[in-house]
Amino acid sequence: MFERQVALITGASSGIGYASAIAFAREGAAVAVNYLKNEKGAEEATEAVRKLGRQVITIKADVTRSADVEKMVETTVEKLGRVDILVNNAGDLFSRQTLADMTEEYWDRVMALNLKSVFLCVKAVWKAMAERKSGCIINVASIAGRNGGGLGAAAYSAAKGGLITYTKSLAKELAPHGIRVNAIAPGVIATPYHERYSPPEIFQKFIANIPMGRAGTSEEVADVIVFLASPAARYMTGETVEVNGGMLMD
Ligand code: NAI
Repeated sequence: MFERQVALITGASSGIGYASAIAFAREGAAVAVNYLKNEKGAEEATEAVRKLGRQVITIKADVTRSADVEKMVETTVEKLGRVDILVNNAGDLFSRQTLADMTEEYWDRVMALNLKSVFLCVKAVWKAMAERKSGCIINVASIAGRNGGGLGAAAYSAAKGGLITYTKSLAKELAPHGIRVNAIAPGVIATPYHERYSPPEIFQKFIANIPMGRAGTSEEVADVIVFLASPAARYMTGETVEVNGGMLMD
């Protein structure tokens, strides 16, 4: 499906990003695997892509820093030729904080990673896409951006809600340039994210609210990301697709 195309995936060293790197490679894309700290995970993702016979590079970059992002895109273009598909997957809650203990620094950090990073990455890729009149951007939002999230996830929910809206604005702005912009809103997905922030009793409460009765897998989310980048979704832009086992129906 993506023969001769290049997918740049942020935060691809674990979870949904890791699964997306493999899913795009399986469909023929060359892949740029971005990571920040988890070098081992990034190497594993890179090796998995290579085993599928695709070109792959691994790039360390902090997506909240414009200089890092510009370098990441430059390196991808230099080594793989272009960026056809950008998956803005990097994101994090950092910790659960309610208003009583939330600091300004925490708020800014959450916004920088979950919202500003998308602006920086899109800014770095869109011009070349526009020149080719072709490109595809997928933003990984969250069910929290729809429903306000669980306790202690207010800043994260606000950022993800902003990302859903930003996806629509970008879609309008970039449609005349042949670039589609969509988002996905995963529900509860079994990744290192929940291992960090959702102790078993909270995790079980989440599961109890899922009609399908289980958490999703990274692969199930990656398949929807691939769909949004595929020709099957060629008339879709500005959309946020729920991937949540029925937890929230809009
Ligand atoms: P994860 O923790 O496995 O993946 C997050 C990735 O982002 C990691 O690879 C991490 O290294 C990377 N990252 C963090 N800060 C970065 C930075 N400054 N620069 C570059 N990379 C950075 O967790 P998961 O679940 O795979 O998360 C992927 C996305 O899915 C995130 O945006 C998250 O908010 C979102 N999400 C996850 C849900 C879940 O239930 N697991 C539900 C809804 C959304």
